[in-house]
Amino acid sequence: MVSNLNLKKIVVLGTGGTIAGTAASAADNIGYTAAQVGVAQLLAAVPGLPALLAGRDLVSEQVAQVDSKDMSFAIWGALAQRVSAHLAAPDVQAVVITHGTDTLEETAYFLQAVLPAAQINAKPVVLTAAMRPASSSAPDGPQNLLDAVAVALAPGAQGVVAVCAGSIHAALDVQKSHTYRIDAFNSGDAGPLGYVEEAELRLLRNWPVALTNKARVAIENIAFKAHWPRVEIVMNHAGGSSAVVDALLLPLPGVTPLRGLVVAATGNGTIHVDLEAALRRAQAQGVHVVRASRCANGRVLPAANAEFAHSAGLSPVKARIALMLALMAESPDAKKA
Ligand code: SIN
Repeated sequence: MVSNLNLKKIVVLGTGGTIAGTAASAADNIGYTAAQVGVAQLLAAVPGLPALLAGRDLVSEQVAQVDSKDMSFAIWGALAQRVSAHLAAPDVQAVVITHGTDTLEETAYFLQAVLPAAQINAKPVVLTAAMRPASSSAPDGPQNLLDAVAVALAPGAQGVVAVCAGSIHAALDVQKSHTYRIDAFNSGDAGPLGYVEEAELRLLRNWPVALTNKARVAIENIAFKAHWPRVEIVMNHAGGSSAVVDALLLPLPGVTPLRGLVVAATGNGTIHVDLEAALRRAQAQGVHVVRASRCANGRVLPAANAEFAHSAGLSPVKARIALMLALMAESPDAKKA
């Protein structure tokens, strides 16, 4: 086939996950090892991809090969750099990322927060994943990859989105909500952005736009940062106490001092009285405290006299990323995008 030079290329970056996992038996969908198959090999196993690309080039690059439970700041830095470099190229239409399902929502939110607005308001970054390994007798990865490329090719597509089981989710809203089912993601109250059906998109909402016209922290600053600000998550629950927060405040040799705490509070941001007292002490020592909710839906409603900041609707894991980036932007060596 002669490739049409007017058509732009799609870049697929591999990071690992179950989509690249293998098990000893094709019947085994849970006893596998994630992150075994290279991204080029995954793409070669997607029926229908050449027809969908219709002459466009597809370029792949292995940025990492990890089970996403082990996702690291170093990989995030490298990934943000590679995505941004590809989006900056005029001949690139979109970037697709293969990722594990377990922390996909964190990487998606991180990328939406740090990629330059000029890039993600013009081109899409599409994360995809799978719940069954590549070695499965009925893998979901190939269809998810095909759907992700269909979204990447859609006219007008922009922003960081996740595509899984035929649904398109915005980075801000997406969360893994099932441990086993193939349709493992949802977007909470917001609902999905739309669906991919036989490579056709049915959009329900507008594509995401960058939250500000400046990314919080310049990508080079993130990529070369040796130490990210240390922000931990604590959960409120029956029988809550001050013990965990008090322990987190103790200085430990070789451990970065605590800069922030996100509390996965109950309901509309409620916190056990003993945990609340410990958080107050932490805040008095200069630790930033943010209240999110452990509820999967809804948000912590901002109260006029609230002692602690609220997470602006972000889940605890995303609120942690937002706080780390905000603290990074405050640091004297931070370069703004
Ligand atoms: C992972 O997150 O890398 C493993 C689990 C998965 O992808 O479903």
